[in-house]
Parts: sequence; structure tokens; C-alpha cells
Amino acid sequence: KFEGLAETPPLGWNSWNTFATDINEELVKGIADKFIELGLKDAGYEYIVLDDGWMAKERDENGNLIADPIKFPSGMKALADYIHAKGLKFGLYNCAGSKTCAGYPGSRGFEYQDARSYASWDVDYLKYDWCNTEKLKAEGAYITMRDALKAAGRPVVFSICEWGDNEPWKWAKDVGHAWRVTGDIINCWDCEVGHGSWSSWGVWKIINMRKNIRKYAGPGHWNDFDMMEVGNGMTDAEDRSHFAMWSMLSSPLIMGNDLRSATKETIKTLTNKEVIAINQDKLGIQGFRFSNEDNFEIWLKPLESNAWAMTFVNMSDETQSLDFDWVKYNIGDDVNGKQMDVKNNTYKIRDLFNQKNLGNTSNKLNAEIGSHDVLMIKLSRL
Ligand code: GLA
Repeated sequence: KFEGLAETPPLGWNSWNTFATDINEELVKGIADKFIELGLKDAGYEYIVLDDGWMAKERDENGNLIADPIKFPSGMKALADYIHAKGLKFGLYNCAGSKTCAGYPGSRGFEYQDARSYASWDVDYLKYDWCNTEKLKAEGAYITMRDALKAAGRPVVFSICEWGDNEPWKWAKDVGHAWRVTGDIINCWDCEVGHGSWSSWGVWKIINMRKNIRKYAGPGHWNDFDMMEVGNGMTDAEDRSHFAMWSMLSSPLIMGNDLRSATKETIKTLTNKEVIAINQDKLGIQGFRFSNEDNFEIWLKPLESNAWAMTFVNMSDETQSLDFDWVKYNIGDDVNGKQMDVKNNTYKIRDLFNQKNLGNTSNKLNAEIGSHDVLMIKLSRL
């Protein structure tokens, strides 16, 4: 794969969660405009990725992929130029199988040819899916596409979308820059919609399914907890918690809402630079659950300079009071040998959503946290 890319989790936007295959040139340009207007670019968001549905239903007579001429009359190179002119990056979707999940031409047997098309359109990011892959082995199929991208020569972030069935965290470190860990997300707190392998999963279902694979993630190779549902119908509190958790998990932060009609509160959450900085911490250590007692999920993530991020999510249906006594706990990360020593060191506490200081660890941490809302703090040594 191309080394040196996605050293911190990729930040961007993808069309699927809101628009499915109903996408077009004007929409995508409008989204790019919003990246600038709403301060999203300034907050670090970079990639604009078209998911399934951007192609014509058939390849041309030479076997080349072509953009749908009705949805994208100016073609992919022109769209890439528009996005690049704003200092942003451009991504596309395809699939390892004979057809994509929505029935458009897949890359099977056309990997090198398709990679050359992407390079000729100045594509910077490829999401590569796993439908219609009868008799293919996942590892080999993703290696083929990785090698095709390498051969085409243009650096591309390679995002593996295999849903976790073949445990890509065990083999994809040198194949892609991120891999999906589950089937598709849906805009709810903790639901499962559908059944069996066609289920879609709410935020906490996804987290709980895959909280034990953190050791496989690191700079350039991330566990991808799927595109975000922030702004897509959960409450503002739930959106904050979802965003906090994706940051704690070092997941790619790929927005999936319609930025043209997003509320102020949604944009405030998505552009919170102090929360994004936790996701983008250079150590790239994925966070972990510290405890889940008394209806609080408590998560930790070690950061640079012996700092820590800590997230308290109120899982109950009512407001709860948090009363956290630092000296009662032994806080550490066994996987990385990091220890938070509150007995010999004092840490100052920063509330990241409210962007205010909350004193230090020589006192108990007290807070009122609303239902499904979050207190996310950064602890730094005094
Ligand atoms: C799969 C992927 C989704 C999306 C759709 C497109 O379900 O997991 O993220 O790309 O295909 O058809």
C-alpha cells in the first residue's frame, strides 16, 4: 500500500448514509462548498467520497468504467478538479466483486484497468466493498486491488469495506489504511434493524461487537467503525456521544449527513477541534472501555505527552450525577504499559465539549450528565 498516508484517521464525508445512489454533481459540489463555509475544512475534514451509484450501469466498449452521464455530466476528472481547487481530496467507491452492492459494475477482473482510471481522474481515496464475491478470498482480493493502485502510481488511501467477516484486522495492516469492522451502521443508539448478515447496527451495537480488537489499530491502519450518523436523526446528546466514541476509538471520522441542511448544533459537534484532536492524536492508540457500571460507560485513550482522554457516557434514560473519585481507581492501559498516576501526579481536567477547565484530579469529578449525553475530558499533567 502507499505508506505515509492516513497516519492519523482520515477525516471526510461520504454520500451513502444520506443519499444512497441518489447522488449527482451539483450535490457533491454543494458539499465541497459547505466544507469551506461551515469551517469543516478548517477543522481538518479533507476527503469527499462518492459511494455506490456514481457509475454508469455498464462499462464502455473498452471495458473502462464511466461516470453516470446523467448524474455526472462533466465527468469525474472535472469533479476532482473542483474538489482539489478547494484544497480538499476526492474519493470513489467500487467493489471486489463482479458487481457493487447496488448492482453497478464491480472491479473483479478489471482491477488494474480501474486503478488506471482512478489515477487519470486524480482520485485520492478508494473505498472497496465486498458484494458479489463468490469464490473470492478476501485477503487475496484486497491485495490485488492494493497492487493495482500501486501500479497506477497515484497515492490513494485504500479503505477496505469487508464488514469484518474475514477478520481483516488480522491481515490488512499492510493492505489497506482502514478496514470496516462490522456490517452497516444505522442512525440509532443501540438497535439492530434487519436480520442475520443483512442487519444494520446502531452505534452501541457496533461498539460492543468490536471493542476487543484495539491492538490491531495504529498509524496508517485503523479499525473503521463505519461512516457517522451524526445529524441523521438521533438526539443532539446521542450525536455528541457517537462523535466522542468514534474519536476515542480512533475510527475514521467520515460524516454521513447532508451538510447543506445541517443544524447549528450538528455542525458544532462535528467541528469541535478539541474532540477531533483526541481522534487525531499522533500516538494513534485506540481507546478502551474502563468500566460500565451504574449506567455509565467510561472509556480511556492514552495520548501524547502522558495525557489521557476520558469519556463518560450516560446510558440511562435519565440525567445522572457523576461522582468520580480519582484516588479510588488504578487507571492504566495494559496493552501499552501506560499508567495514569493520580497519586503522585496531578492532572488538570479540560471539558472538551464545553471547552472549559474543570479543576484537577486532586478533587473528585462531579457532573450532571443528561440521558445519552457525554462528558469528555482531557487529562494533562500539571
Ligand atoms: C455496503 C457498504 C456500505 C455502502 C453500500 C453501497 O453495504 O457496507 O457502506 O457502501 O454497500 O451499496
